[in-house]
Amino acid sequence: MAANQIDRQLIADLSDREEKLLEEQSPKSYEMFQRAIKHMPMGVASTYHARDPYPVYYTHGKGPHIWTVDGQEIADFHNGYGCMVQGHAHPLIVEAIQKRALLGTQFGLPTEDAIIMAEHLAGAFKLPQWRFVNSGSEAVMDAIRVARSFTGRDTVVKMFGSYHGHMDYVMVSIGAVDYGKIGPRDNYASLPYGGGIPQAAIDMTIPVPFNDLENMTKRIERLVDEGRAPACVIMEPAMMNLGVVLPEPGFLEGVRALTKKHGIVLIFDEVKTGICTARGGAVERWGVVPDMITLGKAIAGGTPCGAIGGSAEVMEKVNDGTVFQVGTYSGNPLSMAAARASFEQVMTDDAYKHLNHLNDRIIEGCDAVCKEHDFPAYTVGISSKGCVNFADGKITDYESFIKFQDHELVALAWLYNFNRGVVIAPGREEEWTLSITHTDADIDLYVSAFAELIRDVSA
Ligand SMILES: Cc1ncc(COP(=O)(O)O)c(C=O)c1O
Repeated sequence: MAANQIDRQLIADLSDREEKLLEEQSPKSYEMFQRAIKHMPMGVASTYHARDPYPVYYTHGKGPHIWTVDGQEIADFHNGYGCMVQGHAHPLIVEAIQKRALLGTQFGLPTEDAIIMAEHLAGAFKLPQWRFVNSGSEAVMDAIRVARSFTGRDTVVKMFGSYHGHMDYVMVSIGAVDYGKIGPRDNYASLPYGGGIPQAAIDMTIPVPFNDLENMTKRIERLVDEGRAPACVIMEPAMMNLGVVLPEPGFLEGVRALTKKHGIVLIFDEVKTGICTARGGAVERWGVVPDMITLGKAIAGGTPCGAIGGSAEVMEKVNDGTVFQVGTYSGNPLSMAAARASFEQVMTDDAYKHLNHLNDRIIEGCDAVCKEHDFPAYTVGISSKGCVNFADGKITDYESFIKFQDHELVALAWLYNFNRGVVIAPGREEEWTLSITHTDADIDLYVSAFAELIRDVSA
């Protein structure tokens, strides 16, 4: 079947049916939403938790499953946008947090666990110097500041379509509301992601295409010629917010050489790839070592934590007091204890082997379904991360994502999954994060929900 043969009316009808089913099963969530909107915009703590017409609210999680306020048990493939690769309430992480809580949770003074975590991260990610913060956004904000101080430059280069958190300089060209405004590949437009971003910040951030060294080089060389040489290139080594977009062979090496040539600090944002794809993230997987790394999400087993790694040269700007890299809760004992338990006892070699086994199974299962129905979709995955692209062309960057990804099917897939006891991250793609507590039965459930979807939309 070709993508243009998919019956749009059928998708609309199935979407209506599945939305109705969800609403019938979630009366308590609806009630909670009515209460929540009185004091919380959209009825949620973060816009990313919102859902139209109302969100589903949850009570608790254990291992690979979470429970809604209506008592539904759901296999969690969302996993907190990738924070919970360890699974929910992992006994070793709970124990570490409990022990630490009894000893005091926060001093605003240094403790040993932060030193131990810095040692672990230095070994895994091949960068010697580390600092801790509370989120991925904070890590990105501080990394960019260090890069600017180190280079004495202001311009930030990022990949069009990438998300790096909610601070002004990276809330640029994450998507295009009006796709016509994106511009040519060697001169992409700097577009704000939502309101409240100062024009000065937007203008300072220059987007380039992922997996396209030629056009990236052209843009950077033009910036150099214009006297606006970039302070940094910040990028996910594998993009993880357009589904999973892997780097084409040679791309990361090319970016490393290009940034070295122009004295640009290369920052790998491993907030999603770090920990979830290998203990040493993309650095371990692809062997390219940047000047700086940002971490967040899964690093501390579901407690708020971020980290910034850097070469000795770059981090000297923090060491010598030039850059104030600070924070009241930085390296807080609770997150550090959880991070240590995760790193030392939970995310073991066997845990990664199990993730690879599960990912192979989910990919094989979904691919077999697509093959059986001759359906225009394909899978991409590494370790705990993966996605189904509802696309009949290869997605390598934002432009191909917009061109090929079938967004109506993505939305329908979310509903199909939820109504069959599976939750995935909502958004622009069908993306999963596995946890080490998932079993083959969870994978079977996922694949069977996917099979039902593809069977129904192929009818
Ligand atoms: C690659 C990347 N960087 C940074 C962030 C920001 O992290 P946080 O939401 O913890 O601030 C995210 C969040 O999704 C991300 O995916």
